[in-house]
Amino acid sequence: MVHCGVLTMMYISVLLLLVSSTSASHYYGGSMTFTPKGHNPDGSLRVDVRYKEAYSYCSTQHVWFCSGGNCGSDIRSVSAQVDSYSNFSYNWCQMETLRTLSIATDSPFQLR
Ligand SMILES: *[C@@H]1O[C@H](CO)[C@@H](O)[C@H](O)[C@H]1NC(C)=O
Repeated sequence: MVHCGVLTMMYISVLLLLVSSTSASHYYGGSMTFTPKGHNPDGSLRVDVRYKEAYSYCSTQHVWFCSGGNCGSDIRSVSAQVDSYSNFSYNWCQMETLRTLSIATDSPFQLR
């Protein structure tokens, strides 16, 4: 689980987190990058979240979802396979997701 706060994002413009374990098997790990993009016309905060994650199969993508707190809402989400490798005994697939969120207030939220 990853705890996030918009206030932290405002002062540290890029926060890199290594995600060491999740419930998903076939998941090797990855990173998440937050970039505040200022305010939306309605005053809410706009934040880009970029995930780079590696899996043993391209079809088993871990979907992060907000599990508590001030979740905000998705403006858009785009995923793409950026790299892959396989041989007889090993599969590896790198996926990248760019998600733009709209967050109403400065309270914390959680991703899982
Ligand atoms: C397959 O690739 C992995 C990762 O690079 C490597 O450790 C392993 O030795 C390779 N196996 C074969 C059979 O080439």
